[in-house]
Amino acid sequence: MQNFEFFNPVNVVFGRDQIQKLNKLVPADTKIMLAYGGGSIFNNGVYDQVIAALPGFNLIEFGGIEPNPKYETLMKAVDIVKKDKIGFILAVGGGSVLDGVKFIAAAALWEEGDPWNFLTNRRLTVAKAVPLGTVLTLPATGSEMNGGSVVTRVSTQEKLAFMSNAVLPRFSILDPTVVFSLPEKQVANGIVDAFVHVIEQYLTYPVNSPIQDRFAESILITLVEEGPKVLANRNDYDAAANFMWAATMALNGLIGVGVPQDWATHMIGHELTAFHNIDHARTLAIVLPGIMQIKRDNKREKLLQYGERVWGINSGTADARIEATIRKTVECFESFGIPTKLSAYGIGADFIQVVCKRFTDRGFKGIGERGDLTVEQIAEVLTLQL
Ligand code: NZQ
Ligand code: ZN
Repeated sequence: MQNFEFFNPVNVVFGRDQIQKLNKLVPADTKIMLAYGGGSIFNNGVYDQVIAALPGFNLIEFGGIEPNPKYETLMKAVDIVKKDKIGFILAVGGGSVLDGVKFIAAAALWEEGDPWNFLTNRRLTVAKAVPLGTVLTLPATGSEMNGGSVVTRVSTQEKLAFMSNAVLPRFSILDPTVVFSLPEKQVANGIVDAFVHVIEQYLTYPVNSPIQDRFAESILITLVEEGPKVLANRNDYDAAANFMWAATMALNGLIGVGVPQDWATHMIGHELTAFHNIDHARTLAIVLPGIMQIKRDNKREKLLQYGERVWGINSGTADARIEATIRKTVECFESFGIPTKLSAYGIGADFIQVVCKRFTDRGFKGIGERGDLTVEQIAEVLTLQL
């Protein structure tokens, strides 16, 4: 196992009727920005619960944070936070609202020019941010329990991430009943996003880390077992609860400590969203099978372990087992209604060079757990998925 530090102070408040605890979690002595997305919280009662839980609090609302939150929109909120001296931001929504709020919180205290720079320049560190808390309405990203945020800039068609402990939520309320109002597409996206988060911290090479491996496998199996129950019956509280906790555990840092990680699928996927606005999880379902094929030698031992422990594939030659494992993964995504080929999204071969050029232009030095995925191999991955 590799050396590591693990720091995760997020106060997770999980279960039914927990939104009413907001008045004990949000500071009462400061101005609060209540930030949300396109309005789903008005239709499912979450907004009403939040307002009822915060009587007498000094609230300013900022709505309209889009899926794949936009820098251009978020900067409007940054102005308000500065002008109105907001002391706490409450994010109520899915990963996009949470990520958007993390950006707003960091950008409002950023003193070194355009905040976009801390997304483009990995050497810049976000050291401070306005404190924030969350009420999660969509299990998927893990944003509720991590310090990551992904922001899109419309003017340049870029989608970039930053990480900072300064934007770790002070608390996150996880009430599984929010799942009841989710459209099928968002449930499917959430299952696949969480699944791929686990895969990118697990499907690398062995470093003798049985705790991380078995936690990772338990999350994958839970998603495979509970996901279909949520899709079949949105009001199944137990399935919703297990799905929600699985998605949080998939990207709160725990399974990624001390092990190699491979975020190539996410990095390539972000380009598919930046140029074609494909839902985040769907981009992952397209890219991952290609990565598994092209990097099957790097990932050989873990592919065999994953196939055996998650899918029960334990007979045949190693190559045949790896083929069956990749096939099972694709079938799983497709069974949730998520296509894994670019053609299903109307994208042809021309686009592959656009993606490759972008990586080259950024001074690309290789990605993946060994840093050896080349631009040529990115083209091969996408060609396999045409
Ligand atoms: O905007 P509203 O009206 O709220 O509607 C949203 C949105 O249209 C709707 N929704 C959310 N909760 C709902 C609901 N509809 C009905 N009932 C509810 N309870 O769902 C739609 C999608 O929401 P969004 O927040 O965009 O989805 P998701 O949670 O999948 O977030 C995706 C974003 O997170 C980033 C992605 O790149 C993408 O921008 N990620 C963030 C990560 C992180 N911070 O660690 C890691 C991930 O890998 C990912 O990159
Ligand atoms: Zn993701």
